[in-house]
Amino acid sequence: MKRLKVSIIGSGSWGCAISKIVGKNVLKRNTFDKRVTMWVYEEIIEGRNLSEIINSTHENVKYLKGHKLPETVVATPDLVEAITDVDILIFVLPHQFLKRCLDTLEGKIKSTAVGISLIKGFQTSVDGDIELISKYITSRLKIQCSVLMGANIANEVANEVFCEGTIGCATKEMKQTFKELFETNYFRVAVVDDTQTVEACGALKNIVACAAGFSDGLLYGNCTKTAIIRIGLMEIKMFINTFLSGSEISTFFESCGISDLFASCYGGRNRKCSALFVEKGKSIYDLEKEILNGQRLQGPSTAEAVNIMLMKKGLEKKFPLFTAVHRIFNFEISPRKLLDHI
Ligand code: NAD
Ligand code: 13P
Repeated sequence: MKRLKVSIIGSGSWGCAISKIVGKNVLKRNTFDKRVTMWVYEEIIEGRNLSEIINSTHENVKYLKGHKLPETVVATPDLVEAITDVDILIFVLPHQFLKRCLDTLEGKIKSTAVGISLIKGFQTSVDGDIELISKYITSRLKIQCSVLMGANIANEVANEVFCEGTIGCATKEMKQTFKELFETNYFRVAVVDDTQTVEACGALKNIVACAAGFSDGLLYGNCTKTAIIRIGLMEIKMFINTFLSGSEISTFFESCGISDLFASCYGGRNRKCSALFVEKGKSIYDLEKEILNGQRLQGPSTAEAVNIMLMKKGLEKKFPLFTAVHRIFNFEISPRKLLDHI
């Protein structure tokens, strides 16, 4: 039997954390080729190419410092080389950079390949509507695309603490294979069919995490923050029911739903930077540059994309928390007015 070749497209903190799992799991089964390619957006670190540092030290010293990646993971700055003859494409780069990546990949993917997106965000179409990333990948590359979401803070997963993930599987025959590729004794994976809800929960929780960050920056305490989380969850559910069809209520109780919402509202980068936004009064994009050392936030741009669509459809008032988060980042309303708006 021909072994399945796997490629990881992206090498940020989550890309590297998941490469630790995938790079070890390919050794456990004959299903997989034992070499996993990882596309690295090339950067120069202290005079050396990041991809060369990863291949010689097996560490991404910029995005996941202190963690050794398996030697099965081979970094390359050449995107086309990374995906040539590959059967399973794992997309794990900030959504801001996906379009350009797909421009390069279009027409170069094996026709039988499948994708799985770990990206938490939306794609915005030219007319201002938002599109699920998995659907966008399918439309550009003509491959099926599943998703893996969940309460997975990169450093914690890299530390191999117990956590869970949710796969929304678009390709029935891939259920077992994805489980074999991603599951470990410390990373428990549930596979569900409700792909759209899994993905939308992953994108929208980042907006709620920003609101939770504002609450922390204002020193409001746990009861206020959990009220924000509850209201946020209701908006996520309403958004999914309004714009996507056929969601299962049980999906919200998987790791991609309630768990990721809590993990992000207590421990994520969106929360942290939004708290600092309140404390320092600087723009969120300046704070991202100052604090995250190249890592990227998804919450503010997702709030903007959602707002553009809601405004176009005259639905801003139906989603007061999503709307307030965007308007706060835009300095249209003060964070202190958040509670008045929701
Ligand atoms: P990151 O924020 O840690 O790092 C940013 C990445 O963007 C780096 O790999 C950098 O090289 C790359 N980059 C910078 N400029 C680029 C360009 N012009 N073109 C292409 N790439 C460029 O990245 P991440 O956290 O791994 O995020 C990837 C996705 O994973 C996001 O959608 C995020 O929401 C999701 N995610 C992240 C975590 C986490 O804890 N970090 C957990 C779950 C899901
Ligand atoms: P942040 O991007 O806010 O760090 O969230 C990471 C995440 O998605 C945790 O599941």
